[in-house]
Formats: sequence, C-alpha cells, structure tokens
Amino acid sequence: MLEMKSVAMAVRPILHYPDKRLRVPGEEVTEFDEELAELVEDMAETMYAAPGVGLAAPQIGVSKRLFVIDVATGDDEPSDLRVFINPEIVEKNGTVCYEEGCLSFPGVHEEVKRAERILVRAKDASGETFELEADGLLAIAVQHENDHLDGKLMVDHLSLLRRRLVHRAMVKRAASPDAAE
Ligand code: NI
Repeated sequence: MLEMKSVAMAVRPILHYPDKRLRVPGEEVTEFDEELAELVEDMAETMYAAPGVGLAAPQIGVSKRLFVIDVATGDDEPSDLRVFINPEIVEKNGTVCYEEGCLSFPGVHEEVKRAERILVRAKDASGETFELEADGLLAIAVQHENDHLDGKLMVDHLSLLRRRLVHRAMVKRAASPDAAE
C-alpha cells in the first residue's frame, strides 16, 4: 500500500471519556521516521481543528508517548507549536490551581492543582533531546498532556464527589452525544 503513504495530513477522531483506550499507558517512541512525522502533523491538525491547546497521542487511540501543545490562543498571536516525544518532567516547583479542560471531556471545566513551574526533558520529531523550563499555561498543559501518556486523566485529580459528577455527565453525554453539548 505504498501509495497510501502520500496521504495528506488528517484530522483524527478524538476519543472521549470513558473510552477505555484513554487508560492505556503509551509506549516509548523508538523510531523517528516519516510515520512519526505524519502522526505529529495529524495530531497538530486535530488539535487546531478541535480547537484545543494540547493533544496527546492516546487521545486519538495511539498508545505512544508523545503530545503536541500550542498555547498561543490569541487571534493575532503567531502559532507556537511544540512537540514533546518521550517526555519526562524532571523538576516541579510551586503549586497553582487552574480551571482545565480536555478534548476528551467536551464541555467539562474543573479546577486542578498542578506544579507552577516545571523543567521538562523530551525529544523533538527528529529525535533531538531538548529541555524546557515552563510556567503559566504552558507548564499546566505539559503536566496535563504528560498525564495522558500514563493513562491518567484530569478527573483523577478531582475530589471523589466532583469525579462522580463528571463521570455521570460524560456517560450521559456518550449515550446521547447531540443532546448534551
Ligand atoms: Ni486532556
């Protein structure tokens, strides 16, 4: 199926909670090849189309350790696409609460406690290792997306009560996707 390789970027369907595939931890990326480059392009296009500020591979059913982030959300801001492959958060400092959303939880916004500043080490799409110090929305997005790679979701950070409420809302939504939004 060689001719299929030249297919252009594509928006992929995003899995919604409680899809069990969101709980599958991603595997290390070992091949920095054309297939990976296409996956990264698809993930970026899927994130922009949603739109969202971050998307992890498990959210499109790909159990690999990578995510994309673009926190430049203003209309006039140039895009700031960042790709994190096999990321590791090596330092965390401070605490901050932020109302988070997730493309796998449409319509849900919940306060989540995260580290305020982080140091993350990852590879880019060509396999080069980089380190990034981040704070603000970027630091939150990196921690949120990194959780996805371990099958961890924003609801896991909530109180049992909030978690049950979100769970019920999402199960209801899954039963009638058109009515709930
Ligand atoms: Ni998410």
